[in-house]
Amino acid sequence: MEQKGRRLLLMPSPLQGHVTPMLQLAHTLHSNGFSITVIYTSSFTHPHLSSSYPNFTFLSISDALSELEASTSASDPVHLTRLLNVRCVEPLKQCLVTLLKNDDRVACFIADAALHFTQSVCDGFKLPRLVLRTGGASSFLVFASFPLLREKGYLPVQESQLEEPVVELPPLKVKDLPKIETRDPEAFYEFVVQFVDECKASSGVIWNSFEELESSALAKLRQLFSIPIYPIGPFHKHFPEGSTSSSLLTPDTSCISWLDTQEHNSVVYVSFGSIASITKAEFLEIAWGLANSMQPFLWVVRPGLIRGSEWLEPLPSRFMENLGGRGYIVKWAPQEQVLAHVAVGAFWTHNGWNSTLESICEGVPMICSPCFADQKVNAKYVSDVWRVGVKLENKLDREEIEKTIRKVMVGDEGKAIRDNVLDLKEKAKISLKEGGSSYSSLDGLVTDILSLKS
Ligand code: UDX
Repeated sequence: MEQKGRRLLLMPSPLQGHVTPMLQLAHTLHSNGFSITVIYTSSFTHPHLSSSYPNFTFLSISDALSELEASTSASDPVHLTRLLNVRCVEPLKQCLVTLLKNDDRVACFIADAALHFTQSVCDGFKLPRLVLRTGGASSFLVFASFPLLREKGYLPVQESQLEEPVVELPPLKVKDLPKIETRDPEAFYEFVVQFVDECKASSGVIWNSFEELESSALAKLRQLFSIPIYPIGPFHKHFPEGSTSSSLLTPDTSCISWLDTQEHNSVVYVSFGSIASITKAEFLEIAWGLANSMQPFLWVVRPGLIRGSEWLEPLPSRFMENLGGRGYIVKWAPQEQVLAHVAVGAFWTHNGWNSTLESICEGVPMICSPCFADQKVNAKYVSDVWRVGVKLENKLDREEIEKTIRKVMVGDEGKAIRDNVLDLKEKAKISLKEGGSSYSSLDGLVTDILSLKS
């Protein structure tokens, strides 16, 4: 096909779990011959990203957030995203006027699904818009079913119905439906409906997933949507480990030397991603559960993870010293490298989609503590559909934590889970090879982009 070297304009949502897959997608499309411009919003500048991706052009547009809005919004991603969908309309229009005047090679705009305002802006310029959905297809199907779920009385979720099955979306129960802490729950519902509608209005949706993992959800989405669906993931496996970095925080690589001293498959890696937070009481249950499990552990305690604490203040004095080197705590880990390390035997995760996929790709069994948004759906699939992990069902409790860690690290159930995840790891690998499902889908995406009319 002619005319590679055409330019793509990409706009990520400014949160870690969204920036990473967008830049990985950009990297893959750049390797396929496209020039890349990344448009980001002014409150979330990350100058080091431009040095990690020297071949990309980075452009900032104003988001007009006050310092207070930008800082509090990070703990309420729905509120943040709603503000961006309003405040960035005019700045994006101005940016596109200049960009399109100076470059006639722009093929299309690729936006994070959460930035739904970009559809009408692109329509105004007759610029085709593709969407990147950074979460999985199975959870997206749930979001796309929100009007139905409300009509049938599953939403808003009632405490008394938590154990009831959602018959329209097996195997989910009401307790697995997406939930989020936000100042206005109705706004979450409206936001979801809107971002799904604007996905349908786009020229196609790209997924960081692969056919063999989510075939059923992808098939249903193909029925519901009349636009192309491109599952081309896992994104981070399109190129060699370590060839790019899109971490917004600096990873503490000293944990790799510590992992080097541990036995194969012995370490529990614990991380709840970039947004989730816990109470001091939950933090202490986790600490004691890990200590009592007698397994070595590597724990990411991000500053801000514990509500009301700077960092590790709630930990009893000499807690780590008393473990005699059996535990290691960092503020931020090089997660892909950690999961790929032979010493890691399980990942205790909040089931953000990136973490879930990264664990599958390294064949690491999961312990699931989902917090919000798509995470509960992801955790249900991990435990009940793919059977590559177990859920910590009740509130965080040290005895249950200890029992669950044992279940995954030793015993027959743990062995079965490990076999299943290794099987999925292999399927992910095959999907990216020539002739594989993601490989072919990426081929289709590149061809389709080149034939889009702007
Ligand atoms: C958010 C939502 O929570 C998630 O549900 C949604 O699917 C994507 O956006 P987040 O909570 O940060 O993301 O979780 P996740 O999707 O797992 O992304 C976290 C990313 O940060 C991963 O790519 C992970 O590798 C990286 N990470 C995490 C590190 O590099 N180091 C760490 O110490 C922890």
